[in-house]
This record gives sequence, structure tokens and C-alpha cells, in this order.
Amino acid sequence: MELVEIMEAFIHGIPKAELHIHIEGALEPELMLELAAKNGVALPFASVAEVRQAYDFKDLQSFLDIYYQGARVLVVEDDFFRLTRQYLQKAAEQNVRHTEIFFDPQTHTARGIKFETVVSGIHRALADVGRQLGLSGRLIMCFLRDLSVAEAMATLEEARDFQAMIAGVGLDSSEVGFPPENFGPVFDRARQWGFKTVAHAGEEGPPTYIWQALERLKVDRIDHGIRCLEDAALVAYLADKQIPITVCPLSNVRLKVFDSMKQHNLMQMLASKLCVTVNSDDPAYFGGYIEENFLELHRAQGLGAEDVVMLARNAFNASFLDPVAKQQYLSEIDDFVSARPGPGSLPGCGTQALSA
Ligand code: HPA
Ligand code: ZN
Repeated sequence: MELVEIMEAFIHGIPKAELHIHIEGALEPELMLELAAKNGVALPFASVAEVRQAYDFKDLQSFLDIYYQGARVLVVEDDFFRLTRQYLQKAAEQNVRHTEIFFDPQTHTARGIKFETVVSGIHRALADVGRQLGLSGRLIMCFLRDLSVAEAMATLEEARDFQAMIAGVGLDSSEVGFPPENFGPVFDRARQWGFKTVAHAGEEGPPTYIWQALERLKVDRIDHGIRCLEDAALVAYLADKQIPITVCPLSNVRLKVFDSMKQHNLMQMLASKLCVTVNSDDPAYFGGYIEENFLELHRAQGLGAEDVVMLARNAFNASFLDPVAKQQYLSEIDDFVSARPGPGSLPGCGTQALSA
């Protein structure tokens, strides 16, 4: 095998966890058109090619406009089930062993879809299809930060009856102008009720938003977080506390946060000893699932095998799995690494780091 093929096989095969995936962002154009026809939802697209042509984003908001439009085709419980099943099948093909899935209930309840329809369709797929595919998962309910705090609180109240199905809460949608601290009371209550907490911060917004997510929302992880490197004190804090950061490289390039994958700052984040993970965000919209994110980083930035191992280990460690399950998955990584071709055959693959 050529070196390139060895590295690609390594990226493909290593057991992975995904911690930042919006289920509505896994809606492939084919399923979007099929559900639109079935449910009688009008879309401004006549073909898959036309849908894909519209995926030319200039920033986060231009993406969100299309993403919320696409989500309107999801109407009955089985639509949410099929969407989630399709994502899980793709994830399993790429050796994702554990996934923590975001969903945006307000996008659907605002259209008159019941909260229960949304959560039970997604959860049923996670439980049934996840089991069949040997893949574990959790659900994280996101509040839309461009809607009011009162609406977020009402959504949290609705989630209480479904707490057995929902591991945590998060914060997403338009970032600039909607600081995390606004949602302090919602996150206080969520934590009191036992939900884990995460928040999108520092994707387009400034490092102060990351500080607010940490200090006011007291989140367990930061989603995106790439603008942290603009604030040395913040980097020192994130590194010291090993706060996990769920980075989504293809998303950042497609939403023009970076001009190209070569400009992405993930390698600097790793060099700064941050607890970084690699994720797909909205794979149907951004040109790839988790494996393509790793591959693009390898091609553009020379991400090596030891980096891949570190990123994969970080993701299981940063997950909301219990310690025993984490350890089992970390052992799977160890087994995978020790069964790989001999030392030196992988670019950037120091034997020390791999056996540590
Ligand atoms: N940022 C904010 N909100 C989102 C995103 C994102 O990248 N994807 C889906 N909702
Ligand atoms: Zn996201």
C-alpha cells in the first residue's frame, strides 16, 4: 500500500466518537426532496443538483437560512426516524462508535410539530438502529439563541418529561449579537435538573462569548471555539482545565471562517495543548462526514497518525459516556493502533506517542 492509502485506511478504521452533529444538518438532498413530495411541502428546488447549487454559503446566517428551510420537510415521527437512521448508517460505515446528536426542537415546534414527535423519532432511531449497528449515542437539545430566553425556558420545561431520552442541552443558531450570558438562567435550571451543558461559542463570535459560556453557563464543552486563539489567557484556561472543544473543519471552511483548509487553526489548537475533537457539524451541507473532515485535515495540513489517535481519544474522553464505556472504547483504539502496520510506516507516526 502507498503511504497515502495507509493513512486513509488509518483514518477510516480508527474507532471514532462524534460530538458535534446537528441531525437536521444530516438531511441529504435526496431525502429532502422525497419528504417534501410526500408531505406536500413546497421547496424552491426541482432537483438534487439545484439543491446542491444553493449550498454556496457566504457566512453562518446564509447557511442557516437554507438549513431552516430544509428542516420544514420533516413533519411526522417517521421522518425524524429516517433522517436519524440515514445519519447513523453513514456514521457506522466510517467507524463512528459513539455519537452525541444535536437537535433543534424550536425549529419544528414553531411550525406546529409536537416536541414529542421530534424527540421520539430521533431517539427511536438512536436506540433501535444504533443497537443494530453497534453504535451508542446521546441526544443534546439545542436552544436557538436568536429566539427569546423565555422561549428557551419553555422548551426546557417541555424537555423535562423526556429527560430519560435527552442527555444535555446546548446553544446554537446565529451567534453574533446573541451572547451566551443571556441564557444564564436557562442553563442554571438545566444543570439543576441534571442535564449536561454545551454551547456554540467563538465560531463567528468573539472570545468573550467563550468566556461567558464557561463562566456564566458553566458548560462542559465548547462547540466550535476556534476564535479562542485570539485570547492568550483563554487558551491558557482551556488548556489548563482541558475543556473539550468540538471543532468542525469543513463547516468552518464552507462558512468562510477560514479561506481554505490550509488556513484552519486546528493544528495550532493541538500545539496549544487544547482538548480538541474533530466533527462534521452539518455533513449534508458542508461536503462531508467525520471521515472527510479528518481526510481534508490530513491533505491540507499534514495531520499525522499520532494526531488522529489523539483526536479520537479526546472525543471519547470528552463524551458524556460513563467511565467504564469510555475505557472500553479507548481500549478499542489501543487495539486498532497496535494492529496497524509497523512503526515508521505512517507519516508523522511517532511510536512513542502511539504506545503512550
Ligand atoms: N452554528 C450555529 N448553529 C448551527 C450550526 C452552526 O455551525 N449548525 C447548525 N446550527
Ligand atoms: Zn454546530
